[in-house]
Amino acid sequence: MDSAPLLQVEDLRVEFATADGAVEAVSGVNFAVAANQTVAVVGESGSGKSVTALAVLQLLDGGRISGGRVLWEDRDLAGMDRAGMRRIRGNDIAMIFQDPMTSLDPLYTVGHQIVEAIRLHRKVSKRAARERAVELLEQVGIPDPRSRVDAYPHQLSGGQRQRVMIAIAIACSPRLLIADEPTTALDVTIEAQVLELLRNLQREYETALLLVTHDVGVVAEMADWVVVFYAGQVVEQGPTAQVLGDPRHPYTAALLAAVPSPTTDKALPLAAIGGAVPGLRDMPSGCRFHPRCSRAWDDCTHTEPALYALPGGRQSRCLLQHPDRSPADETAGELAGTAGRESA
Ligand SMILES: Nc1ncnc2c1ncn2[C@@H]1O[C@H](COP(=O)(O)OP(=O)(O)OP(=O)(O)O)[C@@H](O)[C@H]1O
Ligand SMILES: [Mg+2]
Repeated sequence: MDSAPLLQVEDLRVEFATADGAVEAVSGVNFAVAANQTVAVVGESGSGKSVTALAVLQLLDGGRISGGRVLWEDRDLAGMDRAGMRRIRGNDIAMIFQDPMTSLDPLYTVGHQIVEAIRLHRKVSKRAARERAVELLEQVGIPDPRSRVDAYPHQLSGGQRQRVMIAIAIACSPRLLIADEPTTALDVTIEAQVLELLRNLQREYETALLLVTHDVGVVAEMADWVVVFYAGQVVEQGPTAQVLGDPRHPYTAALLAAVPSPTTDKALPLAAIGGAVPGLRDMPSGCRFHPRCSRAWDDCTHTEPALYALPGGRQSRCLLQHPDRSPADETAGELAGTAGRESA
Protein backbone atom coordinates (compact mmCIF):
# COMPACT_ATOMS: atom_id res chain seq x y z
CA MET A 1 0.00 0.00 0.00
CA ASP A 2 1.28 3.44 -0.90
CA SER A 3 0.14 5.49 2.07
CA ALA A 4 -0.58 4.85 5.75
CA PRO A 5 -3.98 3.25 6.26
CA LEU A 6 -6.96 5.39 7.16
CA LEU A 7 -8.89 2.42 8.46
CA GLN A 8 -7.29 -0.64 9.97
CA VAL A 9 -9.44 -3.57 11.03
CA GLU A 10 -7.45 -5.85 13.31
CA ASP A 11 -8.56 -9.30 14.35
CA LEU A 12 -12.20 -8.17 14.44
CA ARG A 13 -14.70 -10.53 16.03
CA VAL A 14 -18.46 -10.04 16.11
CA GLU A 15 -20.96 -12.03 18.14
CA PHE A 16 -24.73 -12.17 18.09
CA ALA A 17 -26.69 -13.24 21.12
CA THR A 18 -29.41 -15.71 20.16
CA ALA A 19 -31.91 -17.76 22.13
CA ASP A 20 -29.47 -20.69 21.93
CA GLY A 21 -26.45 -18.69 23.05
CA ALA A 22 -23.89 -16.51 21.30
CA VAL A 23 -22.82 -17.14 17.72
CA GLU A 24 -19.72 -15.65 16.10
CA ALA A 25 -20.42 -14.17 12.65
CA VAL A 26 -17.00 -12.58 12.15
CA SER A 27 -13.97 -14.51 13.41
CA GLY A 28 -10.78 -12.49 13.39
CA VAL A 29 -10.88 -10.31 10.31
CA ASN A 30 -7.90 -8.18 9.22
CA PHE A 31 -7.70 -5.64 6.44
CA ALA A 32 -6.87 -1.98 5.86
CA VAL A 33 -8.02 0.84 3.63
CA ALA A 34 -5.62 3.62 2.63
CA ALA A 35 -6.60 7.14 1.63
CA ASN A 36 -7.99 7.33 -1.89
CA GLN A 37 -7.92 3.55 -2.26
CA THR A 38 -10.78 1.26 -3.31
CA VAL A 39 -10.92 -1.96 -1.35
CA ALA A 40 -13.48 -4.57 -2.35
CA VAL A 41 -14.84 -7.14 0.08
CA VAL A 42 -16.12 -10.16 -1.79
CA GLY A 43 -17.56 -13.50 -0.73
CA GLU A 44 -20.66 -15.66 -0.75
CA SER A 45 -23.88 -14.74 1.01
CA GLY A 46 -23.56 -15.08 4.78
CA SER A 47 -19.77 -14.79 4.88
CA GLY A 48 -19.84 -11.75 7.19
CA LYS A 49 -19.31 -8.89 4.73
CA SER A 50 -22.20 -6.72 5.94
CA VAL A 51 -21.62 -7.53 9.60
CA THR A 52 -18.01 -6.38 9.21
CA ALA A 53 -19.05 -3.15 7.47
CA LEU A 54 -21.69 -2.43 10.12
CA ALA A 55 -19.26 -3.22 12.94
CA VAL A 56 -16.83 -0.58 11.65
CA LEU A 57 -19.50 2.07 12.24
CA GLN A 58 -20.99 0.41 15.33
CA LEU A 59 -24.29 -0.07 13.55
CA LEU A 60 -24.70 -3.72 14.53
CA ASP A 61 -28.28 -4.56 15.33
CA GLY A 62 -28.24 -6.98 18.24
CA GLY A 63 -24.57 -7.83 17.74
CA ARG A 64 -21.43 -6.77 19.55
CA ILE A 65 -17.74 -6.52 18.79
CA SER A 66 -16.28 -9.30 20.93
CA GLY A 67 -12.65 -8.83 19.96
CA GLY A 68 -10.14 -6.87 17.94
CA ARG A 69 -9.80 -3.24 16.99
CA VAL A 70 -11.15 -0.86 14.36
CA LEU A 71 -8.49 1.79 14.06
CA TRP A 72 -9.47 5.05 12.43
CA GLU A 73 -6.23 6.99 12.30
CA ASP A 74 -5.12 6.53 15.92
CA ARG A 75 -8.49 5.95 17.53
CA ASP A 76 -10.18 2.61 18.15
CA LEU A 77 -13.79 2.86 16.95
CA ALA A 78 -14.55 -0.50 18.55
CA GLY A 79 -14.39 1.07 22.00
CA MET A 80 -15.75 4.50 21.13
CA ASP A 81 -18.82 5.92 22.92
CA ARG A 82 -22.04 6.92 21.14
CA ALA A 83 -21.25 10.63 21.03
CA GLY A 84 -17.85 9.93 19.51
CA MET A 85 -19.34 7.61 16.91
CA ARG A 86 -21.96 10.19 15.96
CA ARG A 87 -19.17 12.64 15.16
CA ILE A 88 -17.39 10.07 12.98
CA ARG A 89 -20.45 8.66 11.19
CA GLY A 90 -21.49 10.64 8.14
CA ASN A 91 -18.63 13.04 8.69
CA ASP A 92 -15.40 11.02 8.47
CA ILE A 93 -16.93 7.72 7.37
CA ALA A 94 -20.24 7.47 5.53
CA MET A 95 -22.17 4.40 4.50
CA ILE A 96 -24.37 3.57 1.53
CA PHE A 97 -26.72 0.67 2.16
CA GLN A 98 -28.00 -1.94 -0.22
CA ASP A 99 -31.63 -0.88 -0.23
CA PRO A 100 -32.24 2.88 -0.47
CA MET A 101 -35.93 2.45 0.43
CA THR A 102 -35.07 1.25 3.91
CA SER A 103 -32.58 4.03 4.55
CA LEU A 104 -34.51 7.00 3.13
CA ASP A 105 -37.40 8.25 5.24
CA PRO A 106 -40.60 8.12 3.13
CA LEU A 107 -42.15 10.97 5.13
CA TYR A 108 -39.59 13.62 4.22
CA THR A 109 -38.47 15.14 0.93
CA VAL A 110 -35.04 14.11 -0.26
CA GLY A 111 -33.92 17.74 0.09
CA HIS A 112 -34.92 17.75 3.75
CA GLN A 113 -32.96 14.56 4.34
CA ILE A 114 -29.84 15.92 2.66
CA VAL A 115 -30.14 19.20 4.61
CA GLU A 116 -30.41 17.25 7.88
CA ALA A 117 -27.32 15.22 7.01
CA ILE A 118 -25.36 18.40 6.33
CA ARG A 119 -26.55 20.27 9.43
CA LEU A 120 -25.75 17.34 11.68
CA HIS A 121 -22.06 17.97 11.13
CA ARG A 122 -21.75 21.48 9.70
CA LYS A 123 -22.80 24.78 11.21
CA VAL A 124 -24.56 26.24 8.16
CA SER A 125 -27.94 27.92 7.71
CA LYS A 126 -30.89 25.92 6.37
CA ARG A 127 -30.78 28.02 3.27
CA ALA A 128 -27.10 27.36 2.59
CA ALA A 129 -27.62 23.65 3.29
CA ARG A 130 -30.50 23.58 0.81
CA GLU A 131 -28.32 25.19 -1.86
CA ARG A 132 -25.71 22.55 -1.13
CA ALA A 133 -28.40 19.84 -1.42
CA VAL A 134 -29.31 21.07 -4.91
CA GLU A 135 -25.62 21.05 -5.85
CA LEU A 136 -25.20 17.53 -4.52
CA LEU A 137 -28.25 16.27 -6.42
CA GLU A 138 -26.83 17.78 -9.57
CA GLN A 139 -23.47 16.19 -8.88
CA VAL A 140 -24.95 12.70 -8.49
CA GLY A 141 -26.79 13.13 -11.78
CA ILE A 142 -30.39 13.81 -10.75
CA PRO A 143 -32.05 15.75 -13.58
CA ASP A 144 -33.68 19.08 -12.71
CA PRO A 145 -32.29 19.07 -9.15
CA ARG A 146 -33.89 22.39 -8.18
CA SER A 147 -37.35 20.85 -8.41
CA ARG A 148 -36.38 17.25 -7.49
CA VAL A 149 -35.02 18.51 -4.18
CA ASP A 150 -38.66 18.74 -3.04
CA ALA A 151 -39.57 15.22 -4.18
CA TYR A 152 -40.42 12.42 -1.76
CA PRO A 153 -38.47 9.16 -2.09
CA HIS A 154 -41.42 7.31 -3.66
CA GLN A 155 -41.52 9.88 -6.46
CA LEU A 156 -38.05 8.85 -7.62
CA SER A 157 -36.88 5.76 -9.50
CA GLY A 158 -34.77 3.11 -7.77
CA GLY A 159 -31.62 4.40 -9.47
CA GLN A 160 -32.43 7.98 -8.46
CA ARG A 161 -33.03 6.95 -4.85
CA GLN A 162 -29.64 5.25 -4.79
CA ARG A 163 -28.13 8.49 -6.16
CA VAL A 164 -29.84 10.42 -3.35
CA MET A 165 -28.30 7.99 -0.85
CA ILE A 166 -24.92 8.70 -2.40
CA ALA A 167 -25.60 12.45 -2.21
CA ILE A 168 -26.35 12.09 1.52
CA ALA A 169 -23.25 9.96 2.01
CA ILE A 170 -20.93 12.49 0.34
CA ALA A 171 -22.69 15.55 1.81
CA CYS A 172 -19.96 16.12 4.40
CA SER A 173 -17.06 14.96 2.19
CA PRO A 174 -16.21 11.84 4.18
CA ARG A 175 -12.72 10.45 3.83
CA LEU A 176 -14.06 6.90 3.67
CA LEU A 177 -17.22 5.74 1.98
CA ILE A 178 -18.49 2.27 2.82
CA ALA A 179 -20.85 0.96 0.15
CA ASP A 180 -22.58 -2.33 0.97
CA GLU A 181 -23.82 -3.84 -2.30
CA PRO A 182 -24.80 -0.37 -3.53
CA THR A 183 -26.09 -1.61 -6.86
CA THR A 184 -27.74 -4.99 -6.25
CA ALA A 185 -31.24 -3.48 -6.20
CA LEU A 186 -30.61 -1.83 -9.59
CA ASP A 187 -30.72 -3.08 -13.17
CA VAL A 188 -27.45 -3.47 -15.06
CA THR A 189 -27.48 -0.18 -16.96
CA ILE A 190 -28.20 1.81 -13.79
CA GLU A 191 -25.63 -0.27 -11.93
CA ALA A 192 -22.95 0.77 -14.41
CA GLN A 193 -23.97 4.43 -14.04
CA VAL A 194 -23.89 4.31 -10.24
CA LEU A 195 -20.47 2.63 -10.23
CA GLU A 196 -19.20 5.25 -12.67
CA LEU A 197 -20.60 7.94 -10.38
CA LEU A 198 -18.81 6.45 -7.36
CA ARG A 199 -15.57 6.32 -9.32
CA ASN A 200 -15.87 9.95 -10.43
CA LEU A 201 -16.72 11.17 -6.95
CA GLN A 202 -13.82 9.25 -5.56
CA ARG A 203 -11.46 10.85 -8.05
CA GLU A 204 -12.82 14.31 -7.32
CA TYR A 205 -12.91 14.10 -3.53
CA GLU A 206 -10.07 11.59 -3.07
CA THR A 207 -12.36 9.50 -0.93
CA ALA A 208 -11.38 5.99 0.04
CA LEU A 209 -13.99 3.40 -0.84
CA LEU A 210 -14.76 0.13 0.92
CA LEU A 211 -17.01 -1.67 -1.50
CA VAL A 212 -18.90 -4.77 -0.40
CA THR A 213 -20.03 -6.90 -3.31
CA HIS A 214 -20.54 -10.48 -4.39
CA ASP A 215 -19.84 -9.55 -7.99
CA VAL A 216 -16.29 -10.38 -9.12
CA GLY A 217 -16.83 -8.25 -12.24
CA VAL A 218 -17.41 -5.19 -10.06
CA VAL A 219 -14.25 -6.03 -8.09
CA ALA A 220 -12.19 -6.23 -11.28
CA GLU A 221 -13.55 -2.93 -12.51
CA MET A 222 -13.40 -0.90 -9.32
CA ALA A 223 -10.94 -2.17 -6.74
CA ASP A 224 -7.22 -1.69 -6.14
CA TRP A 225 -7.22 -4.29 -3.40
CA VAL A 226 -9.54 -7.22 -2.81
CA VAL A 227 -10.40 -8.98 0.43
CA VAL A 228 -12.00 -12.41 0.01
CA PHE A 229 -14.30 -13.52 2.84
CA TYR A 230 -15.34 -17.06 3.63
CA ALA A 231 -17.36 -18.12 6.67
CA GLY A 232 -16.53 -15.06 8.78
CA GLN A 233 -12.83 -14.99 7.93
CA VAL A 234 -10.54 -13.38 5.39
CA VAL A 235 -9.21 -16.26 3.30
CA GLU A 236 -7.21 -14.23 0.81
CA GLN A 237 -6.31 -10.61 0.12
CA GLY A 238 -4.03 -8.65 -2.14
CA PRO A 239 -3.83 -6.33 -5.15
CA THR A 240 -6.87 -7.00 -7.34
CA ALA A 241 -5.06 -7.91 -10.56
CA GLN A 242 -2.81 -10.39 -8.76
CA VAL A 243 -5.56 -12.05 -6.74
CA LEU A 244 -7.93 -12.37 -9.69
CA GLY A 245 -5.17 -13.35 -12.09
CA ASP A 246 -3.42 -15.83 -9.82
CA PRO A 247 -5.53 -16.77 -6.79
CA ARG A 248 -3.64 -18.34 -3.88
CA HIS A 249 -6.61 -19.82 -2.08
CA PRO A 250 -8.76 -22.62 -3.52
CA TYR A 251 -11.88 -20.72 -2.45
CA THR A 252 -10.89 -17.65 -4.49
CA ALA A 253 -10.11 -19.92 -7.43
CA ALA A 254 -13.53 -21.58 -7.12
CA LEU A 255 -15.24 -18.20 -6.82
CA LEU A 256 -13.55 -17.05 -10.03
CA ALA A 257 -14.39 -20.29 -11.81
CA ALA A 258 -18.05 -19.72 -10.93
CA VAL A 259 -18.11 -16.33 -12.70
CA PRO A 260 -19.74 -16.37 -16.12
CA SER A 261 -17.40 -14.93 -18.74
CA PRO A 262 -18.47 -13.39 -22.04
CA THR A 263 -16.93 -16.39 -23.79
CA THR A 264 -18.78 -18.92 -21.66
CA ASP A 265 -21.59 -20.63 -23.49
CA LYS A 266 -24.63 -19.44 -21.52
CA ALA A 267 -26.26 -22.86 -21.95
CA LEU A 268 -23.45 -24.60 -20.08
CA PRO A 269 -23.81 -24.91 -16.32
CA LEU A 270 -21.37 -22.71 -14.44
CA ALA A 271 -18.70 -24.27 -12.33
CA ALA A 272 -20.60 -23.41 -9.17
CA ILE A 273 -18.88 -24.20 -5.89
CA GLY A 274 -20.26 -27.46 -4.55
CA GLY A 275 -21.78 -27.52 -1.06
CA ALA A 276 -22.88 -24.54 1.00
CA VAL A 277 -21.36 -21.99 3.37
CA PRO A 278 -21.35 -23.63 6.82
CA GLY A 279 -23.77 -22.38 9.46
CA LEU A 280 -22.41 -20.30 12.34
CA ARG A 281 -23.13 -23.15 14.74
CA ASP A 282 -21.42 -25.88 12.77
CA MET A 283 -18.12 -24.48 11.59
CA PRO A 284 -15.88 -27.28 10.30
CA SER A 285 -12.72 -28.00 12.28
CA GLY A 286 -9.35 -27.11 10.73
CA CYS A 287 -9.79 -25.02 7.60
CA ARG A 288 -13.39 -23.78 7.37
CA PHE A 289 -13.38 -24.37 3.60
CA HIS A 290 -12.02 -27.94 3.69
CA PRO A 291 -15.36 -29.79 3.19
CA ARG A 292 -15.83 -27.98 -0.14
CA CYS A 293 -12.19 -27.81 -1.20
CA SER A 294 -10.93 -29.86 -4.13
CA ARG A 295 -7.35 -29.59 -2.86
CA ALA A 296 -7.94 -30.48 0.80
CA TRP A 297 -5.95 -33.24 2.48
CA ASP A 298 -5.90 -34.75 5.97
CA ASP A 299 -4.14 -31.81 7.66
CA CYS A 300 -6.86 -29.46 6.47
CA THR A 301 -9.47 -31.27 8.55
CA HIS A 302 -7.73 -30.52 11.85
CA THR A 303 -5.11 -27.77 11.37
CA GLU A 304 -6.51 -24.25 11.37
CA PRO A 305 -4.55 -22.24 8.80
CA ALA A 306 -3.33 -18.75 9.68
CA LEU A 307 -3.43 -15.86 7.23
CA TYR A 308 0.02 -16.51 5.71
CA ALA A 309 1.99 -13.60 4.25
CA LEU A 310 2.95 -13.97 0.60
CA PRO A 311 5.19 -11.78 -1.58
CA GLY A 312 3.73 -8.43 -2.65
CA GLY A 313 1.75 -7.91 0.57
CA ARG A 314 -0.65 -10.70 -0.35
CA GLN A 315 -2.11 -13.08 2.23
CA SER A 316 -3.74 -16.49 2.03
CA ARG A 317 -5.38 -18.62 4.71
CA CYS A 318 -4.50 -21.96 3.11
CA LEU A 319 -2.11 -24.66 4.33
CA LEU A 320 -0.79 -24.90 0.77
CA GLN A 321 0.75 -21.48 1.46
CA HIS A 322 2.23 -22.45 4.84
CA PRO A 323 5.78 -21.05 4.86
CA ASP A 324 7.28 -24.38 6.04
CA ARG A 325 5.58 -26.39 3.38
CA SER A 326 7.70 -27.67 0.52
CA PRO A 327 6.39 -28.52 -2.96
CA ALA A 328 7.09 -32.20 -2.17
CA ASP A 329 4.68 -32.01 0.79
CA GLU A 330 2.08 -30.55 -1.51
CA THR A 331 2.20 -33.47 -3.92
CA ALA A 332 2.07 -35.98 -1.08
CA GLY A 333 -0.71 -34.06 0.63
CA GLU A 334 -2.84 -33.77 -2.43
CA LEU A 335 -2.47 -37.43 -3.23
CA ALA A 336 -3.59 -38.26 0.29
CA GLY A 337 -6.46 -35.83 -0.09
CA THR A 338 -7.56 -37.29 -3.40
CA ALA A 339 -7.37 -40.83 -2.06
CA GLY A 340 -9.41 -39.74 0.95
CA ARG A 341 -12.16 -38.30 -1.20
CA GLU A 342 -12.33 -41.27 -3.51
CA SER A 343 -12.75 -43.69 -0.65
CA ALA A 344 -15.35 -41.45 1.00
N1 LIG B 1 -28.80 -9.70 13.76
C1 LIG B 1 -28.27 -10.92 13.57
N2 LIG B 1 -28.50 -11.92 14.45
C2 LIG B 1 -27.95 -13.16 14.27
N3 LIG B 1 -27.16 -13.48 13.23
C3 LIG B 1 -26.91 -12.52 12.32
C4 LIG B 1 -27.45 -11.19 12.42
N4 LIG B 1 -27.02 -10.46 11.37
C5 LIG B 1 -26.25 -11.29 10.64
N5 LIG B 1 -26.18 -12.52 11.20
C6 LIG B 1 -25.44 -13.69 10.69
O1 LIG B 1 -24.11 -13.32 10.44
C7 LIG B 1 -23.62 -14.00 9.28
C8 LIG B 1 -23.02 -13.02 8.33
O2 LIG B 1 -24.06 -12.19 7.81
P1 LIG B 1 -23.77 -10.99 6.81
O3 LIG B 1 -25.04 -10.22 6.70
O4 LIG B 1 -22.56 -10.25 7.23
O5 LIG B 1 -23.47 -11.75 5.45
P2 LIG B 1 -23.03 -11.13 4.05
O6 LIG B 1 -21.68 -11.64 3.74
O7 LIG B 1 -23.22 -9.66 4.08
O8 LIG B 1 -24.08 -11.83 3.06
P3 LIG B 1 -24.92 -11.22 1.82
O9 LIG B 1 -24.02 -11.37 0.62
O10 LIG B 1 -26.09 -12.13 1.74
O11 LIG B 1 -25.29 -9.80 2.12
C9 LIG B 1 -24.80 -14.77 8.70
O12 LIG B 1 -24.71 -16.11 9.11
C10 LIG B 1 -26.00 -14.11 9.34
O13 LIG B 1 -27.05 -15.01 9.49
MG1 LIG C 1 -24.55 -8.38 3.13
